[in-house]
Amino acid sequence: MMTSDIKAIEAQILREIENASDASAIEAVRIAALGKAGSVTALLKTLGGMTPDERQAKGPVIHALRESVTAAIAARKAAVDAAELEARLAAEAVDMTLPADMAPRGSVHPVSQVMDELAEVFADMGFAVATGPEIEDDWHNFTALNIPETHPARAMHDTFYFPDKDAEGRAMLLRTHTSPVQIRTMMTQQPPIRIIAPGRVYRSDSDATHTPMFHQIEGLVIDRGIHMGHLKWTLETFLKAYFERDDIVLRLRPSYFPFTEPSAEVDVGYAHEKGRRIVGGNGDDAGHAWMELLGSGMVNRRVIANCGLDPDEWQGFAFGVGVDRLAMLKYGMDDLRAFFDGDLRWLAHYGFGALSVPTLSGGISA
Ligand code: PHE
Repeated sequence: MMTSDIKAIEAQILREIENASDASAIEAVRIAALGKAGSVTALLKTLGGMTPDERQAKGPVIHALRESVTAAIAARKAAVDAAELEARLAAEAVDMTLPADMAPRGSVHPVSQVMDELAEVFADMGFAVATGPEIEDDWHNFTALNIPETHPARAMHDTFYFPDKDAEGRAMLLRTHTSPVQIRTMMTQQPPIRIIAPGRVYRSDSDATHTPMFHQIEGLVIDRGIHMGHLKWTLETFLKAYFERDDIVLRLRPSYFPFTEPSAEVDVGYAHEKGRRIVGGNGDDAGHAWMELLGSGMVNRRVIANCGLDPDEWQGFAFGVGVDRLAMLKYGMDDLRAFFDGDLRWLAHYGFGALSVPTLSGGISA
């Protein structure tokens, strides 16, 4: 075969490659040229029957043919693949600026809802929201709060400890209450201070009313001339707004917390309605009773001093309340464990609309 014939075959095959518009057409051209019975393969086979002179003349031409065909197929394949990807991306494009045609799914968990409601209620009274770490050291969680190492309250807290200490040699733990946020706030902010601190807390405890992780909200006020009257008014105002009823009656019982002095446990009056505890009414009336709701007190002078403030100048009150418990009382769940099961039916039943934001003016739970 003449060199010019081989060039003609090459031109023909390259045209076919150029015309192949998809992967299977390219593969067909490849088989026809380079396959076992392909035209280029047949030419390569003729080399074996040639004289050495002929082979020296034709060999490079035939090998060049195979190489140019192979390269052309690879290039065409890459171009076709790129075009196919381009077309698929264009077909699957999503315009994020179009309005949604589906209502949002999912719901706001009652714990989140209640935290939002509480933030709204307390914002109206001038409280800011503060946060602190869930992995704490024992100084912030205990020592600074006037709970020394040997204090029985440390054992009472069923603390989850980490195996290693931090760089300062302090034992690390999962915070057992939100009270360490009191310390962190007093150490970084100048009074007057008015904060609430909602968040997760951890204790090694589990039954229908206790889970190893639960939620608290801490309140802290530090200012000049603060007394228990301010505490009682704040709690009454908060609980009336939260439960959305005016007949909330509180009872302050003397109690003990190392970080408050004096301390008071706060009970709220409730009645049974349709087999449920409904908060409201005076606990002294027939059919009513008292339920323990939160811990509180005047911030202990030693705690104020531990944070570098002068307790002769600054006084304050603090309180801590279980968010999950507040949610159960208002929205009627009776098993705390269900809060953390992630059961979609429970969430659909007790969850809140993702777009309804609690506001005092609109009714905080509406
Ligand atoms: N930290 C206490 C607890 O978890 C609650 C509390 C907070 C009591 C603030 C008094 C003042 O039980």
